Amino acid sequence: MSVLIKNGRIVTAVDDYHADIYIEDEKISMIGKDLQVEAAKVIDASDRLVIPGGIDPHTHFDMPFGGTRSADDFESGPRAAAFGGTTCVIDFAIQSKGSSTFEGLDTWHQKADGKSLIDYAFHMIITDMPDSRLPEMQKLADEGVTSYKLFMAYPGVLYVDDGTLYRAFRQAGENGTRICMHAENGIVIDEIIKEALADGHTEPKYHGLTRPTRMEAEGVYRSIAIAEVAKVPLYIVHLSCSDALEEVKRARARGVDVIAETCPQYLFLDQSYYDQEGFEGAKYVMTPALREKWNQDELWQGLKFRDLETIATDHCPFCFKDQKELGLDSFTKIPNGAPGVENRMSLIYNGGVVKGRMDLNRFVEVTSTAAAKAFGLFPKKGTIAVGTDADIVIFDPERTETISVKNPCTHHMRVDYSAYEGFEVKGFTETVLSRGRVIIENNEQKIERGGQFVKRALTGAHLSG
Ligand code: URP
Ligand code: ZN
Ligand code: ZN
Repeated sequence: MSVLIKNGRIVTAVDDYHADIYIEDEKISMIGKDLQVEAAKVIDASDRLVIPGGIDPHTHFDMPFGGTRSADDFESGPRAAAFGGTTCVIDFAIQSKGSSTFEGLDTWHQKADGKSLIDYAFHMIITDMPDSRLPEMQKLADEGVTSYKLFMAYPGVLYVDDGTLYRAFRQAGENGTRICMHAENGIVIDEIIKEALADGHTEPKYHGLTRPTRMEAEGVYRSIAIAEVAKVPLYIVHLSCSDALEEVKRARARGVDVIAETCPQYLFLDQSYYDQEGFEGAKYVMTPALREKWNQDELWQGLKFRDLETIATDHCPFCFKDQKELGLDSFTKIPNGAPGVENRMSLIYNGGVVKGRMDLNRFVEVTSTAAAKAFGLFPKKGTIAVGTDADIVIFDPERTETISVKNPCTHHMRVDYSAYEGFEVKGFTETVLSRGRVIIENNEQKIERGGQFVKRALTGAHLSG
């Protein structure tokens, strides 16, 4: 179907101009002033921003974790993402320890197949990588899975030792792929947790108190050192604090190929949320934990000066009732993670652009273009240009909404609370196109599914140098 978007203000990571966009066969085929073409559908985007669809490179849909399963699957998660202006997610498939990574990939393909409203790709979580399995990493790359996440946290679950890190890093570097790192010293943190429990501390706030920022910084430092020796481009996920950011800055200053992601929760929420009454603090039990508020200014600075490259959500929702409540008697049993895939674009537009912390181009860059470039989706996705996928968001810069689990405009996630309850945001997604299909129009869903798996290109040194 052909679509003509008229009179919009087109903003990419580098451009800002008024023009019309003509879409045919899922792609943008013409951009120009006052285009005189026939189209099956015409959308008037006067007084609206026309931006590349958001790319969220860090979600966990239908993920078994913490004795339960994340509450959004590949139907509800992508739908909520779309309502919020995100048109592509990169989710994490998981290798079961001792099994082939391909079994993990097949499982995630099955979870997603035919369900998703928007396009999606996969990183692979590696839980074990003996020499005999190293060739699988090349095969994964051939299947379009060109990045891998490894964990220094969660001993006994997803944790891998430094030898495994080194082996996987070397192979990933040789293959022209990228490593994503959950950087936190989980072994030391487990000792601190034992001390807290021995002292009888079981409330949610001890999740934060047992995960010092220095242990995140140490993980960032160590993974950078290993990546430097193994010669692989590194991507630090969910960076939460100034201590960790300093390690990224130091490494970049000496020329190491490391980029980093932060998340809205670390820009807008802080450690005081754990002090809420009763068991409420469990809603914010996530890893890394929420930090002291002053860290937020440092993270915004990091985004401004490009030491932080992307903003992802790490969307990993668990309902308060029955799921977070698994940890009523001990914070160690609260499933780690929080919802947010729907709220990212408005939160960052409001907190970034409206509050004067970043300009419009940088907003597009941190919410879409940079992730596309880091993870082999660019220029197919992440920008607006002739030949790119018509993943487009028509965004109303004036509309305000109050984010709430009770607001049907801001909450389509399948979870019984909002991490941003009561936040007022200016700037809201109105209409969303996914490869030229109008999937959301004036905040109404128009199509049930049709999202496709996207094979990603290599992401190695040729892009990040
Ligand atoms: O608390 C979190 N972040 N849960 C999801 C798993 C992870 O570490 O990314
Ligand atoms: Zn993680
Ligand atoms: Zn995560």
